[in-house]
Amino acid sequence: MNMGYWDTMGASEEWYTPRYIFDALGCRFDLDPAHPEERVTHVPAVTVFYERGLERLWHGFVWLNPPFGGRNGIAPWLNKFFEHGDGIALTPDLTSAPWFRQAWLRADLVLFMPKVKFVRPDGSLGKSPSNGTALWAAGQRGVSALRRAAGEGLGILATPTSARPKASRPAPKGIAHNLSDCLNP
Ligand SMILES: C[S@@+](CC[C@H](N)C(=O)[O-])C[C@H]1O[C@@H](n2cnc3c(N)ncnc32)[C@H](O)[C@@H]1O
Repeated sequence: MNMGYWDTMGASEEWYTPRYIFDALGCRFDLDPAHPEERVTHVPAVTVFYERGLERLWHGFVWLNPPFGGRNGIAPWLNKFFEHGDGIALTPDLTSAPWFRQAWLRADLVLFMPKVKFVRPDGSLGKSPSNGTALWAAGQRGVSALRRAAGEGLGILATPTSARPKASRPAPKGIAHNLSDCLNP
């Protein structure tokens, strides 16, 4: 069946990032910790890990397009990415997923791209997936690269804000949603 990357969740991890994304980012990476063992990809990284990428020590400016690995399988990769704090990660833009919402609170900048056709091991392109793609920046180098990519037309930028509700404030009596409630909480 000819499908896109995110739609084959659990079926294959072997979908690679197309070159135009790296061209727009305009940077090189020190490490790709989730890379195929015997394939050439477009990832401009000096070092790659093709096994135990989650267990090993990461270094420098990281590119991460993690194995999707079924429901929430992406979460430990993103946790490690934000703990490391220097790089760019690629995920689907699944804004309702728990891992997405946790990442939102930790990212320095996010770039939302239109749907990306990922590259198969034989070099051919998959179909357009059902979701768009998000690029996550951790640290200043990632922020600069995402800004550059947005300038190149790769996507739109969003700066995450941690708009957490104030804890256990009693609901106002009477009309709860008038303008003064919004201006003077
Ligand atoms: C979605 S692909 C991304 C490949 C490449 N990083 C890119 O951006 O084009 C994820 C890759 O991670 C590899 N992988 C799976 N489990 C891994 C692990 N535990 N450690 C390192 N790499 C792993 C898979 O073989 C696959 O090639």
